[in-house]
Amino acid sequence: MSTAISPTAYNYKVVRQFAIMTVVWGILGMGLGVFIASQLVWPELNFDLPWTTFGRLRPLHTNLVIFAFGGCALFATSYYVVQRTCQTRLISDSLAAFTFWGWQAVIVGAIVTLPLGYTTTKEYAELEWPLAILLAIVWVTYGLVFFGTIVKRKTKHIYVGNWFYGAFIVVTAMLHIVNHASLPVSFFKSYSAYSGATDAMIQWWYGHNAVGFFLTTGFLGMMYYFVPKQAERPIYSYRLSIVHFWALITLYIWAGPHHLHYTALPDWAQSLGMAMSIILLAPSWGGMINGMMTLSGAWHKLRTDPILRFLVVSLAFYGMSTFEGPMMAIKTVNSLSHYTDWTIGHVHAGALGWVAMISIGAIYHMIPKLFGRAQMHSTSLINAHFWLATIGTVLYIASMWVNGITQGLMWRAINDDGTLTYSFVEALQASHPGFIVRALGGAFFASGMLLMAYNVYRTVRASDPAEAEAAAKIAVVGAH
Ligand code: HEM
Ligand code: HEM
Repeated sequence: MSTAISPTAYNYKVVRQFAIMTVVWGILGMGLGVFIASQLVWPELNFDLPWTTFGRLRPLHTNLVIFAFGGCALFATSYYVVQRTCQTRLISDSLAAFTFWGWQAVIVGAIVTLPLGYTTTKEYAELEWPLAILLAIVWVTYGLVFFGTIVKRKTKHIYVGNWFYGAFIVVTAMLHIVNHASLPVSFFKSYSAYSGATDAMIQWWYGHNAVGFFLTTGFLGMMYYFVPKQAERPIYSYRLSIVHFWALITLYIWAGPHHLHYTALPDWAQSLGMAMSIILLAPSWGGMINGMMTLSGAWHKLRTDPILRFLVVSLAFYGMSTFEGPMMAIKTVNSLSHYTDWTIGHVHAGALGWVAMISIGAIYHMIPKLFGRAQMHSTSLINAHFWLATIGTVLYIASMWVNGITQGLMWRAINDDGTLTYSFVEALQASHPGFIVRALGGAFFASGMLLMAYNVYRTVRASDPAEAEAAAKIAVVGAH
């Protein structure tokens, strides 16, 4: 622990910008989620216009929630954590500002091009080549700022949260660049450099590791800083954090083929993906257990601290979705779950329960510190947000489990003469009540975000710029 006072303060400006945009994009992305969920209940909401159809808005939803909301949360927290744990300012203010404006430009590009129908058609990698190149440049700059700051750190060791953030940054760059290799034929159209089963394999190597590194490893970095901080307890086991870090990043990269079971992909590759996915349960739970056990002796704080509750419940959902995932990777289970709403339920157990909840907890932790306030404007609003988010997540995933299993069983039911027992439309009709409950759960979750926006607004409005600057300076003294 250093006690020297550094003459410079941390760069909190870029952290503030990303933190505020996390809330803004969260509302838009989740609001759009509620809208597309409602389209599945009331198809009239497609309005018979090409740019408002489900098919075009769905990828906009995924881009907004993963890259805009999740991405801004990762930028904000990684810039905050790397400065505080390395006890030094970001290596370059202008490069950091470039990552902020560049990232927002990519998102605005997505908002314009996806509803217009410009897409590579690769899931989670839909953005056409000009935007993909901009994204790559922003990402490499992000890497320079992050690792440059680590290099000039004032502390001897590199805190484990930074290992997770570092792996997320490096692997995301690799995935994005390899999967996007393509031949542009016009300004808005390109064709993948790969074809057939190879293209599918590269796409799901990307897709699964987008889950593994973007939606998991980056957020574990967040977990390793904000859970101990909010609980005011040291991390349960530093050794476990190192062991599960290496196991996680070694295993994740092999699991992609579980998205391609029973396809033209060679059978051995499918089985390998399945085996690696099952083993992946161990390092995933290593992280979950390490986070949970950090609360040993501090469980009573959950009664009064809704921010800690967000963080702990996110770990519970992380544990749940990383148990469910390996099960779904088993080929026989996947033959039932694939194509059904079960997958959608699994996705949102991870996305709402884990990714969104931990980000929300981290943002509530940071906002007062970034704006020179002792705490958020209202703790009871955070509490209300917590319940809306938890109930919303449970409604979402429970309805999708029921729908998924119903769909899977109805699709495979056959009569004695070998004909299908149910038509597709019958299975769709059976799914309708579940769609309504999902839209309701989504509306709960999204309305919690509105409470958050109001609470953040009131906290920021009461902030004193001089105090905020002083907070950034004082924070350089002492431990992370
Ligand atoms: C209010 C909250 C949300 C609602 C109502 C919502 C709703 C939806 C709907 C209706 C779909 C399309 C499902 C289908 O095709 O049948 C979807 C897909 C998806 N959403 Fe959300 N969503 C929400 C939040 C989020 C968040 C926060 C994330 C990520 C951090 C996320 C990630 C995804 C992903 C990855 C997919 C694609 C799933 C797949 O292809 O299997 N969503 N969402
Ligand atoms: C050990 C961890 C995990 C394993 C082994 C795993 C496994 C799986 C499997 C087998 C599928 C279904 C593939 C299919 O039938 O097409 C799937 C889908 C998915 N999972 Fe997971 N999962 C894990 C954790 C997570 C977490 C924590 C998240 C989110 C934060 C997540 C997000 C997704 C998404 C977005 C999809 C849908 C992909 C698509 O088809 O568009 N997974 N996962």
